[in-house]
Amino acid sequence: MEQTFADKKRKTVEQAEFTADGRYMRKVRSFVLRTGRLSDFQRDMMNHHWADLGLDYQATPFDFNQIFGNANPVVLEIGFGMGKSLVEMAEQNPDRNYIGIEVHTPGVGACIAYAVEKGVKNLRVICHDATEILRDSIADQSLGGLQLYFPDPWQKAKHHKRRIVQPAFIERVLQKLRSDGFIHMATDWENYAEHMLAVLRSFPELKNQSPSGDFIPRPDFRPLTKFEERGQKLGHGVWDLYFIKG
Ligand SMILES: C[S@@+](CC[C@H](N)C(=O)[O-])C[C@H]1O[C@@H](n2cnc3c(N)ncnc32)[C@H](O)[C@@H]1O
Repeated sequence: MEQTFADKKRKTVEQAEFTADGRYMRKVRSFVLRTGRLSDFQRDMMNHHWADLGLDYQATPFDFNQIFGNANPVVLEIGFGMGKSLVEMAEQNPDRNYIGIEVHTPGVGACIAYAVEKGVKNLRVICHDATEILRDSIADQSLGGLQLYFPDPWQKAKHHKRRIVQPAFIERVLQKLRSDGFIHMATDWENYAEHMLAVLRSFPELKNQSPSGDFIPRPDFRPLTKFEERGQKLGHGVWDLYFIKG
């Protein structure tokens, strides 16, 4: 079968990097590229709507005003899964712009399909490793907020280094956030919630919005996500963290 744009996209979710002597550098990734099948519908949606709704990795920062045609605050969501809750948030907050990043192509196709169905104009999606997008394609002090909902918990201790929330990651996020920008995370894995809290607390410029100094009650403005729903069925709790850059 002929390889379309959408088929090729899954092979380009990261930049190859090399050591000084020219060897391919293995990276610690926060994701596994699952081979989940891109349905014909998702493929068509990606192929037909990428020009309007997709953004590609670039080595220089995006111009948000040009992309969205306005100067509204830009909220970045990393790992949107199938994208349903992200599209709902974009629909509910027309005075904000949203950029969602996901490496899983069926999720990217599903998100684009839902965005088209809902007619949202304030959303763009990226199919690439979010750590590279943050590093290269986002200007410093340009983001109004960062959303990270139910990131892969990497449960085994030997895999904890693959968790996306690490001090270096938060340092990078802080570099990209405007002052007053927010970081909102949620997880259904208590041990990861404690880890997130410890990492966020270690940055004095981040102000915890929790009245009890740890987690906030689940906010109504965060739509239920697919992973959250799955966790609920398994009887998992949910921990939300909300910090503002001072
Ligand atoms: C456990 S799922 C949660 C999905 C969604 N937020 C939800 O709650 O239903 C985590 C998602 O993050 C994505 N992901 C992990 N690391 C990523 C990265 N570095 N860049 C982009 N996406 C990433 C994975 O592909 C996966 O779909």
